[in-house]
Amino acid sequence: MKKEFQMVATAAAGLEALVGRELRDLGMECQVENGKVHFQGKQEELMKANLWLRTADRVKLVLGQFPAKTFEELYQGVFAIDWQDYLPLGVQFPVSKARCVRSKLHNEPSVQAITKKAVVRKMQKVYARPDGVPLPESGPVFSIEVSIRKDQVTIMLDTSGDSLFKRGYRTDKGGAPLKENMAAALVNLSNWFPDKPLLDPTCGSGTIVIEAAMKALNIAPGLRRSFAFESWPWIDQELWRQLKETALAAQQDDVELSIMASDIDGRMVELARENAKRAGVLSYITFKQMRLQDFQTNLINGVVISNPPYGERLMDDEGVSRLYQEMGETFAPLRTWSKFILTSDGQFEEKYGSLADKKRKLYNGTLRVDYYQYYGERVRRSDSGSQA
Ligand SMILES: C[S@@+](CC[C@H](N)C(=O)[O-])C[C@H]1O[C@@H](n2cnc3c(N)ncnc32)[C@H](O)[C@@H]1O
Repeated sequence: MKKEFQMVATAAAGLEALVGRELRDLGMECQVENGKVHFQGKQEELMKANLWLRTADRVKLVLGQFPAKTFEELYQGVFAIDWQDYLPLGVQFPVSKARCVRSKLHNEPSVQAITKKAVVRKMQKVYARPDGVPLPESGPVFSIEVSIRKDQVTIMLDTSGDSLFKRGYRTDKGGAPLKENMAAALVNLSNWFPDKPLLDPTCGSGTIVIEAAMKALNIAPGLRRSFAFESWPWIDQELWRQLKETALAAQQDDVELSIMASDIDGRMVELARENAKRAGVLSYITFKQMRLQDFQTNLINGVVISNPPYGERLMDDEGVSRLYQEMGETFAPLRTWSKFILTSDGQFEEKYGSLADKKRKLYNGTLRVDYYQYYGERVRRSDSGSQA
């Protein structure tokens, strides 16, 4: 079986650089591209990327890349891959995804079918199975993916299984939750550090504050879930056990955090609490049922990260306008606090009452959103007692 792998960590548009930074922090060289980050490594890197990446979607092995404008070229390119280096006899190997962009080959179901046929034929050849007799497919799953972009084919194997945003701590999601990797990205894109107060005043199911606490406590995001690669016969189970054990030992519990989360809806606060409990961070977050308009504090140098209702699903336009205006009025006195607000509302700044220092274009699923960033005035702790 293969020892060295070409890999990609996929990411939502706008988050690739964050994934690249995370990989480098894990000690891996990488190259950032649109929607993905390329890196190389052995089983250890494959495992670590799945276990530790907070902002990525998935980790995939890249098995082959070649040009193809016809089905024959696609077939030959797929057949040429050393499938026996990855797929033992008896495993399931669905071609679960095909994506064709600006290419001669654009019929995705046909691309899937041809790819499957080429893999089957190659497996029959290398494992000396007669043509026409179906290969046994009942064991672990190796999901094959085909991407064709401008006639360049990339053949990949998904190692993650469920997308990496599924950490396993959130069961009931409530209203309009952020994906966990998006919430982690909002934290990474903010200027919050664990020594500063953090508030999410529209916490919903609690994703932002839970991700912040997990990061501060160095809790590996993948510790509570399983991955597709775990069932693969050639995976070094002892190495995987050691990496999880190391991750568990690296968790910190003696960090003092000042993290607050509130929501107008008491049921959401309860749900957020349950999620935080499952994530192992409940005792680090203060949850409260509260209107954001009622927030007051004497703390300084804090950070607000909020994903308020946008209007699309949760609130009418008038309600949203009023909420944003009241948000601006409530936060204005918090001079030393930075505010980071994610919304799809193009008129947010007008309604909020001030122009953002910086705006970052992101996608919440398929919805185009902006991350409005207002930086707090810098004040040394000794210079100021109370404010607000
Ligand atoms: C888009 S959801 C937040 C989702 C959250 N980020 C998550 O991942 O689950 C917006 C939340 O704002 C809350 N909300 C609406 N008006 C509010 C107000 N005036 N004060 C506090 N929370 C409010 C809603 O109850 C809802 O839970």
